[in-house]
Parts: sequence; structure tokens; C-alpha cells
Amino acid sequence: MANIERDGFGSRFGVLVAVAGSAVGLGNLWRFPYMVGNNGGAAFIILYLFFVILLCLPIMFSEFVIGRRTQSNAFGAIKKIAPKSGWLSIGVISVVASICIMSFYSVVGGWTLEYIFKSFSPDFLTSDSTSLANQFSGFSQSSFMPVAMHLLFLTLSALIVVAGVKNGIEKYSKILMPMLFILVLLLAIRSLTLDGAGEGVRFLLYPDFSKITGETMLAALGQAFFSLSLGMGCIITYGSYVNRKENLFKISFMSAFADTGFAILAGLAVMPAVFAFGISPGQGPSLVFITLPQIFAQMPFGSIISIAFFFILLIAAITSAISLLEVVVAYFTEELKMTRKVAVVVTFIIIGLFGTFSSLSQGPLSDVKIFGKTFFDLFDYASSNVLLPVGGLLVVLFVGWRMKRADVLDELTSGGTIALRKSLFSGIMLVIKFLAPIAISIVLLNSIF
Ligand code: TRP
Repeated sequence: MANIERDGFGSRFGVLVAVAGSAVGLGNLWRFPYMVGNNGGAAFIILYLFFVILLCLPIMFSEFVIGRRTQSNAFGAIKKIAPKSGWLSIGVISVVASICIMSFYSVVGGWTLEYIFKSFSPDFLTSDSTSLANQFSGFSQSSFMPVAMHLLFLTLSALIVVAGVKNGIEKYSKILMPMLFILVLLLAIRSLTLDGAGEGVRFLLYPDFSKITGETMLAALGQAFFSLSLGMGCIITYGSYVNRKENLFKISFMSAFADTGFAILAGLAVMPAVFAFGISPGQGPSLVFITLPQIFAQMPFGSIISIAFFFILLIAAITSAISLLEVVVAYFTEELKMTRKVAVVVTFIIIGLFGTFSSLSQGPLSDVKIFGKTFFDLFDYASSNVLLPVGGLLVVLFVGWRMKRADVLDELTSGGTIALRKSLFSGIMLVIKFLAPIAISIVLLNSIF
């Protein structure tokens, strides 16, 4: 029986760290602050929180239920319950989305690596935002170094995935995730005490609802999915490694809480500084790479803090990247019967290539546009704003309408060993069957028209 050899998480803490490690990553510390900046501040955050509680939690339960029930990769999981059906598109979306996301994620991971190295140079930290902006564009728009860094980041992540699920990342995450928290907290405190920080706090707290459009709603939904690693079988895959006894509710709540906490804290670390230093909040992906070094420059032992911060950001990015890679690797090994090594190499080649295009699209290939977007923006937009919401929609529909209600209950209660009030279960099923699908559809349709 193949299942006996299947790898899995070692302990409850291991599951939590791995799921939180998947969720907390560049999405919180790099993407969230600039999405908030691009989409008008507080109003975006409120929408975001609303989506996390109302939609993302039920989707997370759903993905866990599918994964743990079937003990399979995302594609195999759907195949076990609904063979030869249109539902298999969930499995296809998971592999495609994973490749799309990694094709820009790995590039940003490479930027993080470069910034660790930069932090060692004594004249890197300065409070001159123009100079930092030039440094960033000079680097990210060049041809060789960013591609090399992307491949290095991908190699580091791939090496961990080769080693398997249990050995390695759990151990390191236990130490590094708390360290990341302390550092971001310190940064937020420094940022909030800068002269002129008040403007940034106002930006984060006072919503201007006139800024909300169909596009903003989709952006908030996409960001929520992205940050919680939802909508593309990542949690299905991790769920398949979770022990039968674990309480899926608890794991979901704790991961979502940790992830949201990190995002808000990152906002508090970045936005006050953005306003204090007169940087434009809407400048996109370069935002944290320009603002944070400015804060470091104004702190004692700035260089050391800078090295530590980008190093830990790297770890957060890697623990997320491995969860994305694992989706593809689990599919290749279980469905296409490759060995784990071969699967990792094939995945590496595909993402290495696409990622190179997305890196070059920052500079030499910036004029090549598909649907009016560069490769980098296209991979980002296609995954967060199309594949994840559609994938999330299909997942809740699948659990709500295709799976047996008794099986869902059995998973959520771990075979009846965890108490779950009947009314609560009915409520959750109502959300999964009706509310979540309708809400996601409205947001998707609203942005199209
Ligand atoms: N959530 C991670 C972050 O915030 C990125 C990530 C990992 C992801 N796995 C995912 C995003 C699955 C979407 C789907 O950085």
C-alpha cells in the first residue's frame, strides 16, 4: 500500500509551523504593503479582513478536508472522489497556478538574497530615498544578477523539497518564525516613532470607501487567497500530510491569525515610514526594498538589523516556496510516477525558465507585453486575480456539492473524536455551499464588467 510509505508531518507543532510557514511569506511582508499602497489604504484592509474571515477560513477547512480525506496530491485527491469529471480542473489549476506564482515569487526571493548581500556593504544604508530607489532599479532591471539570484533562490527551495516533508524545514521554522515576528515588531515600533509617521497611520486606519471599485475588491480577495496560500491545492497537499487526529479548525484558525497578524504588522512597519520619508505609497513591488533600508539607516546597528531582516525574510519566502513546489512535485511523483528527484529537477527547469522571463521583464524585456502586462505582472495577475479565486470557488463547490456531507463532518471532527455543535456544522456548510461561492462569483463578475 503506497500510503504506508507516504511522508507526513511529525507533530502538531510541525503541522502548524509548516502551514503558517506556507502562509507567512513575501505575500505578507512584500506584497501586502504595496497592495495597500496601490489600493487606497484602510478601505482595502477592511475588505481584506472581511474576506479572510468570511471566505478564506471556509476555503481553508475545505482544502484540508479534501487533502486529509484522500491522502493525495491535489490532482489525485479530486480523482479519488470524482474520477473523470470536470472537477479535475481543480487539479489542473493547482499545478498551473503553482508554476505561475513561483515564476515571480522566486524572482522576488532572489531580490531578497541580493539585499542580504548588499546589507554587508557599509555604504548601502542611507536615508536618501532617491539613491535607494536607484539602487533597486539598477539591480532589478539588469540582466545577469537578478536571474542568477532567482536561480539560487529556486535551488535552495528545491533542495529542501528533495529532502522530503518531515526532515528539515519544521526544525528551522520553529526558531525562525518567532525571530521574524520580533524583528518585524521592532521595525513597526521604529517606523511608528519616526517624525511624520502619523500620516501613514491615518492611511492605514481611516477608510476612504470611494476608493473601492470592482478591481479593488478583486485585488483584496486575490491578496487574501495569496497570503493564506489558498485556491490552488497547496493546503490540499499539506492537508494530505496531516495526521488523522489533528483538529483542522484549530490549525486553520491559528494559521489565519498568524498570517493576518504578520500582514498588519508589516503594514505598520512600512506605511508610516513611507509617509515620513515622502515616498509614494503606490509605487508597487519595489516598495519594501526602498523603505525598509531607510528605516534601518535610522536605527542603531542598522546594518546588522538589515542583514537579519532580509535573512529572515528569505526564510519566510523559502518556507512558502517549498509549499508551492510541493504541489507540483507531489503531482509529478504520485500521478506521473516520477521519482522525487526527477520531479524536483523537472519542476526546477520549468520554473527556472519562466522565472528568467519574469526577471528579465523588469528590464531588458520590459517592452514585451501580453494582455498589456509584462511577464512578471502577468504571472502575478493571472495567479492572484484569476486562478486562485476560480480555484477557491471550485474547491468550496466541490466540498459543498460533490463530497458526502457525512465525510466532511467526519474529517472536521476527526472521526467523531472532536466535539462540533450541529448548528455550527450546519452554519459552516451553508457558507461553503452558498455564501462563499456566491460572494466569490460576485467579486469575479464585478471586476469583469
Ligand atoms: N502565502 C505565501 C505568501 O504569503 C505564498 C504562497 C505559498 C501561496 N503557497 C501558496 C500563494 C499557495 C498562493 C497559493 O508569501
